[in-house]
Amino acid sequence: MNNRKNNCFGNTVTDERTTPAPPDWPSRIAFFDRLATVWDNTSSLEKIAPPLGAVVDTWDVKPAETILDVGCGTGNLTAVLLQRLGTDGRVVGLDISTVMLQHAKAKVNDPRATWLECPAEDVPLPEAVFHRIICFSVWPHFTAPATVLAEFYRLLKPNGYLHVLHLISRSAVNNIHSQASDPSIHHDLLPPVADLAVLTQTAGFKLITAAEDNSSYSLTATRPAS
Ligand SMILES: C[S@@+](CC[C@H](N)C(=O)[O-])C[C@H]1O[C@@H](n2cnc3c(N)ncnc32)[C@H](O)[C@@H]1O
Repeated sequence: MNNRKNNCFGNTVTDERTTPAPPDWPSRIAFFDRLATVWDNTSSLEKIAPPLGAVVDTWDVKPAETILDVGCGTGNLTAVLLQRLGTDGRVVGLDISTVMLQHAKAKVNDPRATWLECPAEDVPLPEAVFHRIICFSVWPHFTAPATVLAEFYRLLKPNGYLHVLHLISRSAVNNIHSQASDPSIHHDLLPPVADLAVLTQTAGFKLITAAEDNSSYSLTATRPAS
């Protein structure tokens, strides 16, 4: 069942969840605003850059790419990406949390980075602008995954890449979210990567890899050229 409703910015989005409760955007934003003040205590750039950079280096990022960092948080992935881009490279960090974005701007402070405060479910940008879209530690928070995939398909250039990445296991992610201080986060669960692969292909993407083990979860797909 599809529901039409307003998102936190007053725009109409489609929620394909079969559960009746629509997302409580103010509550979710408040949760991530609070998390922003402590996020770097457990996931600092210094700590995450080596393992994250090692994965990014397998993606063959080109110096002049324009990349969307979805759920950019305090900007750690954006910083890692900028280290690998040239002067013509660009990263757009997108997040629903004002406070996360404040931390990201202060940390990154690079003219090649720009910031967008909006949900991934409804991105106010024209089509085919990104070479690559990366969802690092954010996928389970999307309230309407099929809507988000349609947005990513629209925003990617033909042959552009979509990456979904976690550097801990699916069960570890789901344990953390099941015990979050805000009950609305308890349902933000990462599906088996095989299920995400099917969803991604249903949205029109070509699957490149999908894998999960006891320390990571990753999917890479492309928007076909035609
Ligand atoms: C667990 S944090 C990860 C932050 C960052 N990617 C990292 O790993 O350091 C999840 C981030 O996604 C953002 N977020 C949650 N739901 C979102 C949505 N629907 N659209 C965009 N961003 C969202 C949160 O505000 C938060 O900054």
